[in-house]
Amino acid sequence: MSFRTTATDYVEDVSPGSGALPPRAWYASSDATSLSLNGSWRFRLSATVDAEDDSFAAEGYDAGDWAQVSVPGHWVLQGHGSPIYTNHLYPFPVDPPRVPTENPTGDHVRTFDLPSEWPSDGGAVLRFDGVESCARVWLNGTDIGEFKGSRLPHEFAVGHLLKPSGNVLAVRVHQWSAGSYLEDQDQWWLPGIFRDVTLLHRPAGSALDFFVHASYDHLAGEGTLRVDSDVDGRVLVPALDIDVATGEPVTVPVRPWTAETPRLYDGELVTEGERVPLRIGFRTVALEDGLIKVNGRAILFKGVNRHEWHPEKGRALDLETMREDVLLMKRHNINAVRTSHYPPHPAFLDLCDEYGLWVIDECDLETHGFTEQAWRDNPVDDDRWTPALLDRTARMVERDKNHPSVVIWSLGNEAGTGRGLTAMAEWIRGRDTSRLIHYEGDIDCRDTDMYSRMYADHAEVESIGRGLDGGGLKRRELPFILCEFGHAMGNGPGGIADYQHLFESYDRVQGGFIWEWIDHGIKDERYTFAYGGDFGEELHDGNFVCDGLVFPDRTPSPGLVEYKKVIEPVRIEGDGPAGTVRVRNAYDFADLSELAFEWSYQVDGETVEAGALSVPALAPGESAEVKLPTPPADGRGAETQWTVRAVLAADTAWGPRGHQIAWVQLPVIDGVLTRVVRSDGPVPGEQVITLGPAAFDARTGALRTIGGVDVTGLRLDVWRAPTDNDNGAPWQPDARYGLLWRKLGLHRMQHRLDAVELGDDALTVRTRVAPAAWEVGLRTVYRWTSDGTRLRLTVSVSPEGDWTLPLPRLGIRLGLASSADRVKWFGGGPGEGYPDTKSASMVGRWESTVDELQTPYVRPQENGARADVRWAEIGGLRVEGDPSFWFTARRWTTEQLDAAEHLTDLAPGNTVWVNLDHGQQGIGSQSCGPGALPQYQLRASHAEFSFVLSEIHD
Ligand code: GAL
Repeated sequence: MSFRTTATDYVEDVSPGSGALPPRAWYASSDATSLSLNGSWRFRLSATVDAEDDSFAAEGYDAGDWAQVSVPGHWVLQGHGSPIYTNHLYPFPVDPPRVPTENPTGDHVRTFDLPSEWPSDGGAVLRFDGVESCARVWLNGTDIGEFKGSRLPHEFAVGHLLKPSGNVLAVRVHQWSAGSYLEDQDQWWLPGIFRDVTLLHRPAGSALDFFVHASYDHLAGEGTLRVDSDVDGRVLVPALDIDVATGEPVTVPVRPWTAETPRLYDGELVTEGERVPLRIGFRTVALEDGLIKVNGRAILFKGVNRHEWHPEKGRALDLETMREDVLLMKRHNINAVRTSHYPPHPAFLDLCDEYGLWVIDECDLETHGFTEQAWRDNPVDDDRWTPALLDRTARMVERDKNHPSVVIWSLGNEAGTGRGLTAMAEWIRGRDTSRLIHYEGDIDCRDTDMYSRMYADHAEVESIGRGLDGGGLKRRELPFILCEFGHAMGNGPGGIADYQHLFESYDRVQGGFIWEWIDHGIKDERYTFAYGGDFGEELHDGNFVCDGLVFPDRTPSPGLVEYKKVIEPVRIEGDGPAGTVRVRNAYDFADLSELAFEWSYQVDGETVEAGALSVPALAPGESAEVKLPTPPADGRGAETQWTVRAVLAADTAWGPRGHQIAWVQLPVIDGVLTRVVRSDGPVPGEQVITLGPAAFDARTGALRTIGGVDVTGLRLDVWRAPTDNDNGAPWQPDARYGLLWRKLGLHRMQHRLDAVELGDDALTVRTRVAPAAWEVGLRTVYRWTSDGTRLRLTVSVSPEGDWTLPLPRLGIRLGLASSADRVKWFGGGPGEGYPDTKSASMVGRWESTVDELQTPYVRPQENGARADVRWAEIGGLRVEGDPSFWFTARRWTTEQLDAAEHLTDLAPGNTVWVNLDHGQQGIGSQSCGPGALPQYQLRASHAEFSFVLSEIHD
C-alpha cells in the first residue's frame, strides 16, 4: 500500500509534463486579440506539495482572504519564504528524481472576464512564458495539465473552457520537482510564475507555427526568403516588393543583417484568420574553413554571459530593464550575448535583433551538482530523462527560431556528457540546419560545431590558437571560443586586454564571453545588496553570485569600462612626437562612416586645443595613416600628449552623437618633475623636529604637520583588503595570494623603529617592517628633505629573508582630517585602475569627492586606486610623485574595509586615509580563472620612490 497520493506524482516524474500544446514560434499577432493575465493574483503558500487539496481550483472557491502576489514574480521576493543561493550544489539530497517532502508550493488564483471585444468564434490558448519549477494548471475547475522547464513557454488550448466572465485560473507551483535536477544553474533558486501569463485568441485560420528562413548570399548580395508555415498563407515584405505564398522561396537584392548592421525588414505572414508581423534579417551562418562565418566573414565575439536579473524582481524582468541591458552592452562595444544558462524572455531576443547582438541561445539545462558523485546518475546520460531534454530543446528552438540574432544554439551548461546531449544535438540538426551548435562540456566536439572552453588561461588559449592543443581530428579542425572568461567577481577581471590580444592574433580563436553581465545582489535594507547566506540558507556560496560587469542596480562597474576599452572596434595607434596616427577598422562588417574622429592636445592634462580629424570610411580590416596637426607651442617643462577619439557622428538607435567608441593617448613630451633643492636642515626641538614647513615627532620621527595640515600615521603599507580575485577559488591551480598573504601576516605588520637621524640636510628614519612569527621583513628608510616650502620624502625598501609571495601593495599611507573631501589629480581616471585593469584609465585632470572615489563592490574589498597619478591634491595637501603613483583615499582604514562583509558595514571615521602606492599587485581573474599574469605581479624586491609634499595655499 502506498501512502503517497498519486495526485502529486507528476512533481517527481522525469517526464516534461502533460496537456501542453506542441512548441511553436513565439510572436505577437497584429490582429488576434489577447489578454494579459499579469497583475495581482491571490496566493497561498504551503510547506509541502499536498498540504492542501486542489479544491482551491474549483469554480466558486473563495480565495478572498489569501495574500496577493504580483505575476510575473517570485513569491520568495514578495515576503513569502526566502531565496536560496547555491553555485552548483543542489540544495536538496541528490536522489533523482526525488525531491524533499518540504517542497514550498504556491497556489495562485486569478479570476478574469473576457474583454467585450473578445470574439465568440475560434479557439484560445493560455500561455505561460516561465514558471519555476513545476506547475499544475486548472481553468474553471478543469485540470488542463502540468509542466516543467522553468524558462520555457508552455501553451494550453482552453477555448472550450472559457466563459465571458468569471473565469477562474488556478496554478499550483512547486519549488522543487524532477525538473530541478535539470536546472542547477549558478544562481538564486526563485520559485514562482516569473514571466508573463497571456490568453491568446486563436481565430479560425490563424497561424500556428512558422519558420522564417532568410539567408544571405554575400557574393550575389541577395537574400533568399522562405517562410514555412503550418497554415498556408502569403508572405509580404513591402520594402522588397515581396508577396509570395508560404513555402515558396524568393530571392531579391537585400542588405544583410549583422550585429553591427542590424538591418531588419518588416514583413507580414497573412493567413486566412490572422496577420503576424515579421521582422526579417537576412544572414547566413556557416562553419567554413574551420571558422564561424556570417555572410562569408569570420566573426569575433566580444561577448558577455547574461543571466536575467533585477535586484528587486529577480528574474521577472520588464521590457525597459531588458532594453537597458541591450543599450548598455551596445554602448560598451559588446557585440555578443550568451544567454547563460537558459533562453531569456523572448522580448530580449527581439531587442537583440533590433539593436544588433550575436546571440548564443542556451537551453534551460544544467546538472552540475552531479559532479560531486563523479556524474553518476547524471540525467543527460540516462534515457529516462531524454524526453525531458528533447522537450526543452524543442521549446527553445521552436520559440526562438525566427530571430536573426540567434546564430548558435547551445545545448546547456555544465551537464557533463551523455547520450541525452547527443540526442538534443541530433534533434536540432534535424530541425534547423541554419545555425551552429555549442556545448562547452563536449571536449571532443562530438556533437558541436566549435571547441568551447571556460576560463582557460592565456597560455592555453595561445596554444589552442596555434593549433597545438591536440584533441581529436574533429576538434582540431574547429574554431575555438571561450564561452566564459574574465570572471568579473568584485574588483576585476584583470588580464582581459591580454586575452583580447590573443583573440585578435589567432584566427581560430573567435573571441569570448565575460562571466558575467550582472551581480545578482538582492536589494536589502540590511546590507544594501544581499548575497548567498544572507537569508539564513543552510548551504550557500556567498557572494559568488555577485560576479558581473554591472552592479545589481546596473551601474557599470570599472570592469565594464575596462572591457569597453579592450574590445573597441577601432584601433588607434600612433607616434605622438611624429604626430601620426594609424587607424584600423576592427569591425567585422561595418565601415567607419558612422564615426567621427577628434584630436585634442593636452598640456599637463589640460586640453589646450582640439579639432576634427578626417579619417576615411575604412572598410573592415583596412587601416589608414593620418597626420595630426602641428602641435600648439609647448609649455616649457610641461607634459604634453595627444588624445584621439572615435565617436558616433550622429545619434544611432543605441547611442547619442558624440558617444565615445575608441580612443588613444599619445605622449609627446614627458613632464619635468618638481625639484626640491635641499636648503633647510632638520632642527631638533623638545617635542618636535622641524624641517622646512613640517614638524615631526622628536622621538619617533613621525610626520605631524606640513604647514597647517595635520598628518597622522604616515608609514609603509603593504596590505590591501583582498579582492575576490586575490582570494581565488579552491579549484583554481594558481596560488591563492589573498589567503597566503593573510597567513604570512601582511595584514598585521609590525613597524620597528631603528633610528631617527638628523643630518645636515635630511631627516632619516630607519625602520624594519615585518609580520610576527616569520623572519621576512622589509627594511624601510624614510628620508626627508626640504627646500623651505616643500618636503621630499624618499622611501627605500629592501626585502630581507625569503619572500616567496608578491606584495599586495607597496607604498605609504597617511591620515588626514575628515574635512578632506574634494580630490583633484593629474593622472589616470576617471575610474579606478590596477596593473592589469587600467586600459581604460585616461591620463588627464580629474576631480572627485572622497566618497565618489569608492567603487561599491557588493562585498567590500580593495578598490578605487587611480593609476599613473602625477600629482594629487586633497585636504590642503599636494602630493607629487617621483615616479607617478597609485592614489587611493577612503574614510575607513584598509583593516575596516577588509573586515566588512557588506557595504553597510563601512562607516566613515574621523580620518581620511590616503594610500600613495609605488606598486600594486595585479588583479587577475582567479575567483574562477587564472591569477594575475607574472608581468602584473608585485614582486618583493628593492624599491625606492619619492613624493614631494606641500601645503596648498589657495
Ligand atoms: C562556470 C559556470 C557559471 C558560473 C561560473 C562561475 O563554471 O558555467 O554558471 O558558475 O562558472 O561564476
